[in-house]
Amino acid sequence: MEAAFPDPWIRQFSIKANDVPAIIAELARLGLGANVVSRGEWARARRAWLPNESITLEGVGKTDADLRAAVSAARRGDPLRWVAVESPEEAEALATFAQGAHVTLDVLFRLNPDVAPETQAVLAVGSGASKFGMTETELTRTVQRLAGAAPGGLRPRGIHLHVGSQLGAIDAWRDGVRRAVAVLGLVRGSMPDFDTLDVGGGFPVAPFGWAPSVPAPGRFAREIPALLETVPADRRPLRLAVEPGRFLVARAGWIVARVLHVRDRGARLAVIDAGMAELVRPALYGAVHPVVALTSRGEPVDDAGPAASLRPGFEPTRVDGPICESTDTLGVHSLPPLRRGDLVAIRDAGAYAASMSSAYNGRPRRAQVLLR
Ligand SMILES: Cc1ncc(COP(=O)(O)O)c(C=O)c1O
Repeated sequence: MEAAFPDPWIRQFSIKANDVPAIIAELARLGLGANVVSRGEWARARRAWLPNESITLEGVGKTDADLRAAVSAARRGDPLRWVAVESPEEAEALATFAQGAHVTLDVLFRLNPDVAPETQAVLAVGSGASKFGMTETELTRTVQRLAGAAPGGLRPRGIHLHVGSQLGAIDAWRDGVRRAVAVLGLVRGSMPDFDTLDVGGGFPVAPFGWAPSVPAPGRFAREIPALLETVPADRRPLRLAVEPGRFLVARAGWIVARVLHVRDRGARLAVIDAGMAELVRPALYGAVHPVVALTSRGEPVDDAGPAASLRPGFEPTRVDGPICESTDTLGVHSLPPLRRGDLVAIRDAGAYAASMSSAYNGRPRRAQVLLR
């Protein structure tokens, strides 16, 4: 990320992907701030010893309490780096809480870029029909209203964008950033401080063992200079930010599970003791996670990934979780003979796994072990 988006880019880790304080702290040591969506995530970032000045608050679900907390921190002279507002209503609420409080707080405005991101429909948050962000007209009106309502307090500082997650190509992202640069340039004409563009996250990760068919962060970054040149020099953003989640942590995490049953259901079926309560994304929208068998010492039996040709004794095996829902499946994987008690690992589970886990079926929150 740093090679693609070097200083002075602001790099914020989107901690919804993985909110373990030790990991947030490790990424902070590498120069990343934290991007949070609630007071809960904000508290996780603080537990990782991040100062408010390296924390940004965004998110479609901010409550009055979240907004009041951001205002209170600013009133104490310890403001967040910025708050990104989602809607005219949210901007209004923030302005009301800040009224008379003599705060100085930078505010970004989330743009819905109305593009067609090259990803699963459920991850295409930059499409016009999605619930995320404001249209260009809503955004420019909201900026004007906020600037008029709170002179010297809340400071409209720029645009926040997130085109989608697990982007399979750069085209929609480029279109989205181009729109954001144009809108920012328009506002900046009458408001020189409106100088910040946060282009969000979405940098993809190919499942382990699959061909690296997805664009690397550098491929996205290469588009930026030409996009900035679409507006006059004095209308361009002065500060640029990214907020990756998945790219930084997905490959760093494995879920280790034990086999509970092996059945013949036309093909071989293995039920294991981890599933949608620990990793909901396969059941939620068909996310693909390689599953590998482990020796009793915890070493992968075949580490070549799902693209490897079948080894002798390996069979296509449907791997299902233990939850009372038939969608609780991790798909078909090439695996050696298995029996109850054997260990398997679900790979690439460092992002959107533990942070999205649930207690459904009375399951406890799982232990997480950080290895260096
Ligand atoms: C606004 C915003 N920024 C950043 C991210 C992180 O996305 P990713 O993990 O795909 O990089 C998300 C993910 O939902 C998001 O909504």
